[in-house]
Amino acid sequence: MRTFDGSELLIATHNQGKLEEIADLLSPFGVAVSSNADHGLPEPEETETTFTGNARIKAHAAVKATGLPALSDDSGITVDGLNGAPGVYTSDWAETPNGRDFVMAMTRTWDELEAVKAPEPRLAQFRCCLVLAWPDGHDEVFEGVMPGRLVWPMRGDQGHGYDPIFQPNGYDVTFGEMDRWEKNKISHRADAFAKLIDGCFA
Ligand code: IMP
Repeated sequence: MRTFDGSELLIATHNQGKLEEIADLLSPFGVAVSSNADHGLPEPEETETTFTGNARIKAHAAVKATGLPALSDDSGITVDGLNGAPGVYTSDWAETPNGRDFVMAMTRTWDELEAVKAPEPRLAQFRCCLVLAWPDGHDEVFEGVMPGRLVWPMRGDQGHGYDPIFQPNGYDVTFGEMDRWEKNKISHRADAFAKLIDGCFA
């Protein structure tokens, strides 16, 4: 495992929320962070069929364009009763001509489970893959997971994406009903970040 000993890290995202969350997590390590937007980089096409594959595309594209080490994140939800769908297509299921509609995506997810008469509990996992890539082509990969079950109808208006139908193991509330601080302690992203910090920054 390679230790990160640089002073500047490019966070390969256009998402301001992700950038702020990652900057917070890395603040104890004295690393200056910048984002794709700061460097005017386009979002590369995510053509792989795994979270790791797509996170690798994003990290290495950013390294290539800037010469800086880069950290990328790819995430989504996998549903057992749908053979792992929507998986890497999690945000695609929400796409409409007028922007993303996650109520539509959650409804489709539940309808497809009903259509195949998937048994209860309808197990699912939020997954997060982080890739830290260096200019010499080396990378380190960290995978985080939060197992749980899907519930219907949707519950809660906290969070984002598929949070209102996901009830994490060990809780009787959905991510949509959980306060952000609590969710950020146990989430798939927290799991992957703990492994990243342990592996490359400790
Ligand atoms: P990407 O990693 O930016 O490509 O997006 C992954 C998609 O997965 C997002 O659009 C969200 O819909 C979904 N997702 C990832 N993490 C979460 C989460 O913690 N709660 C709800 N949805 C999530």
